[in-house]
Amino acid sequence: MQKNFLIVGGSHGIGYELVRQLAADGHRVTVLSRTPGNLHELAGVTHQPFDVLTDPFPVDAAPDTLHGLAYLPGSIQLKSFATMKPEQFREEFDLNCIGAVKCIQGALKALKSTPGSGIVLFSTVAVGTGMPFHASIAAAKGAVEGLTRSLAAELAPAVRINCIAPSLTDTPLAARLLSSDEKREASAARHPLKRVGTAAEIAALAAFLLSENAGWITGQVIHADGGMGRLKV
Ligand SMILES: NC(=O)c1ccc[n+]([C@@H]2O[C@H](COP(=O)([O-])OP(=O)(O)OC[C@H]3O[C@@H](n4cnc5c(N)ncnc54)[C@H](OP(=O)(O)O)[C@@H]3O)[C@@H](O)[C@H]2O)c1
Repeated sequence: MQKNFLIVGGSHGIGYELVRQLAADGHRVTVLSRTPGNLHELAGVTHQPFDVLTDPFPVDAAPDTLHGLAYLPGSIQLKSFATMKPEQFREEFDLNCIGAVKCIQGALKALKSTPGSGIVLFSTVAVGTGMPFHASIAAAKGAVEGLTRSLAAELAPAVRINCIAPSLTDTPLAARLLSSDEKREASAARHPLKRVGTAAEIAALAAFLLSENAGWITGQVIHADGGMGRLKV
């Protein structure tokens, strides 16, 4: 069955891979992001320019029948806590949490009226596992995890909502952390599975959570992190 999906932040990284996988399965996908990236290469995909920090949610972006929403805009501002200004905490909270709230509220009517609909949000391994220099992003993504569980309860049984908590994944967002062979090798070595994640494998998990195969899963934070969050090897 052909379905309608709205992917906020689907122009690059994990979001682009998610859009590519949904479109390859024949679904109709609308992408909201500031730039279109290479979306013109994908059939069945519409892009609308949208900056979640400054623009109102475009109500016409959500069709009356909407099977799934994913929200991918995120940040990694790593600094020592002593040098972090309150503004950094606000910026990360606005992009990661308030942006998701804005988009869920904008699409909620359509999601509620579509049987089997689902939402996927994104956290980070650094919420469940304490890591130095991650205070502002861990605080913002911790809020996203709380939002996931609270909304899962409030929206059940109409809409499922789940969250993915990745560790370091090879995307434009992580480019600075993977910008040399030495950095890549050190990052790979920190993970029990001895590599960083790929956008395609995180996107495949998101596509599963949006599908009817995940129809009995809601309120979960699922760790896709090469073992980083649970294992000590
Ligand atoms: N990559 C990692 O290592 C990693 C690790 C843990 C968690 N995560 C989380 O996973 C999610 C996806 O990460 P990613 O690595 O795929 O990120 P990415 O490569 O930076 O892609 C983010 C997407 O969001 C869009 N976006 C950014 N700011 C926006 C804004 N203000 N308004 C609208 N759209 C905006 C970007 O498009 P435009 O620039 O065109 O707007 C892009 O399509 C994020 O929430 C991130 O925190 C990633």
